Amino acid sequence: MLIDRLITSFDTGLRTVLAEPHANRARPGADMKEATLSDEQKQQAIALMRVNHVGEVCAQALYSGQAFTSRNMQIVNSLKHAAVEETDHLAWCEDRIKELGGRKSLLNPFWYAGSFALGAVAGAVGDKWNLGFLAETEQQVSVHLSGHLEKLPTEDVRTRAIIEQMHVDETSHAKEAKQLGAADLPDAIKTGMKLASKIMTTTAYYV
Ligand SMILES: [Fe+2]
Ligand SMILES: [Fe+2]
Repeated sequence: MLIDRLITSFDTGLRTVLAEPHANRARPGADMKEATLSDEQKQQAIALMRVNHVGEVCAQALYSGQAFTSRNMQIVNSLKHAAVEETDHLAWCEDRIKELGGRKSLLNPFWYAGSFALGAVAGAVGDKWNLGFLAETEQQVSVHLSGHLEKLPTEDVRTRAIIEQMHVDETSHAKEAKQLGAADLPDAIKTGMKLASKIMTTTAYYV
């Protein structure tokens, strides 16, 4: 029913933006020793983790948006486990930002709303495109995470462990969406998505 979907979506949105998320899995690298980082290295790690945290806020919104409009419950249910892993990512990033003494993006409600709308459109245009959009998103995120591993200080093993596990998960989410029947998106859409994520990641690095 529409009202149930509305309530669930609204609840997910509020929890993502306002509440403290709980991870199902233990945080990767939590038992590793904290490295001695210079102020500059610390600020770099905080900024990169803020970007990743925003990415995970967007992931929550995208999954929630596509579940809101998709008529295919089999797909929605198949993607639930990916959505649970995204909550782990959200919690891990938030935790690490706090540990480093940083803060989350002030624009999270805005990122959430925009991504929810995108997910809802993707969910409405049909299964193969919806899955295609998810597969491409996850693919782009995993490329982006590889870039972060290059930018992060090598000593910062506690941050790196989180990103490494996220990279493994996002790659498997892309694979899962493909296995469920994702269509390959037109190049123009892929380029548009890259541009949108560039704007998001550049902004979130600072704000
Ligand atoms: Fe994620
Ligand atoms: Fe993912």
